[in-house]
Amino acid sequence: MRDLRISVMDRCNFRCPYCMPRETYHEKYRFLGSQERLSFEEIVRLARLFVQLGVRKLRLTGGEPLLRAGLADLIGDLTAIPGVDDVALTTNGVLLGKYASELKAAGLKRITVSLDSLDPQVFARMSGGFGSPAEVLDGIEHARRAGLEPLKINAVVQRGVNDHTVLELVERFRGSGVIVRFIEYMDVGNRNHWSSELVVPSKELMARIAARWPLAVLEPDYTGEVAERYAFADGQGEVGFISSVSQPFCGDCSRVRLSSDGVIYTCLFAAHGTSLRDALRGGASDERLLELIAAVWQRRADRYSEQRASLPHGADEPRKVEMFYIGG
Ligand code: GTP
Ligand code: 5AD
Ligand code: SF4
Repeated sequence: MRDLRISVMDRCNFRCPYCMPRETYHEKYRFLGSQERLSFEEIVRLARLFVQLGVRKLRLTGGEPLLRAGLADLIGDLTAIPGVDDVALTTNGVLLGKYASELKAAGLKRITVSLDSLDPQVFARMSGGFGSPAEVLDGIEHARRAGLEPLKINAVVQRGVNDHTVLELVERFRGSGVIVRFIEYMDVGNRNHWSSELVVPSKELMARIAARWPLAVLEPDYTGEVAERYAFADGQGEVGFISSVSQPFCGDCSRVRLSSDGVIYTCLFAAHGTSLRDALRGGASDERLLELIAAVWQRRADRYSEQRASLPHGADEPRKVEMFYIGG
């Protein structure tokens, strides 16, 4: 257990159809109430315990984490935990203009911004009509100026939706120090109408990019890195591919996920988690909580992405948690 991903907010200001399709997450959808979400104090207490069990890297996610009021305070407390080497944040970027310098001052090291396309129409289709490439680029610029680096971009690729805009995205950031990473569209949750036909295998994408800008494979930065990294042969930086569908990486997965209401999940595609909130609020001691977490980790046998091809899709598929709730 090395990497703890903490979802601090189940709400989002976008409605990306691959994550929070509008038809389900409409005005009347019942998100968590503020009492149901873990308080900052509860999150920090749990994070300390996870660090005792081996976690070295924390990533804050959502929904959209910047919708959680006072997030910089939480970051300040998390970065101060002895043993934490890395604190990062995944955001859709539109609120960075407002918060980037505050986050940096609180101790945040780096961020990853989701940006699926620079084409305004394609972007709107993939964000459910919210935000714009201009707003996200402005957010990225604020983050750069604040020193939140290395800055990474995550782009989900869907065939026939945004795959024709991939080269433009690479071109825009080549040589800028910003690292673009392409994610194969995944069957997270049960509500995004995933189909394998919409997946563009990374090999195909890489060939398209390499035909324009020759690439050379890079060694992983650390064991269990999800992105396969390639350097531009002309020295203009690197590009990454996250290929959970075509090349599953469950074998060295060291990630554990904490939802905003305090449930831990050991897989992005899990059906069930274990609530720590009940124990926390029931007065459990640190020792008891450590036992609970260790027991969950010890009995884990997740390898969903390796089994994907043999599992049913459509009406008979297994029940899974949703991405906006677990954070990616
Ligand atoms: P770095 O520390 O910067 O390398 O970040 P990271 O690899 O933790 O990247 P990030 O959190 O941005 O993850 C990128 C995306 O990869 C996530 O948003 C998910 O879409 C996907 N991903 C991350 N972990 C897993 C995993 O365990 N399984 C699967 N299938 N996908 C994952
Ligand atoms: N498949 C692949 N990536 C996804 N993301 C959200 N849903 C999916 C999906 N179904 C991405 C977001 C963001 C990160 C947290 O995960 O775009 O970059
Ligand atoms: Fe929001 Fe991110 Fe999900 Fe899009 S992918 S709906 S930005 S949480």
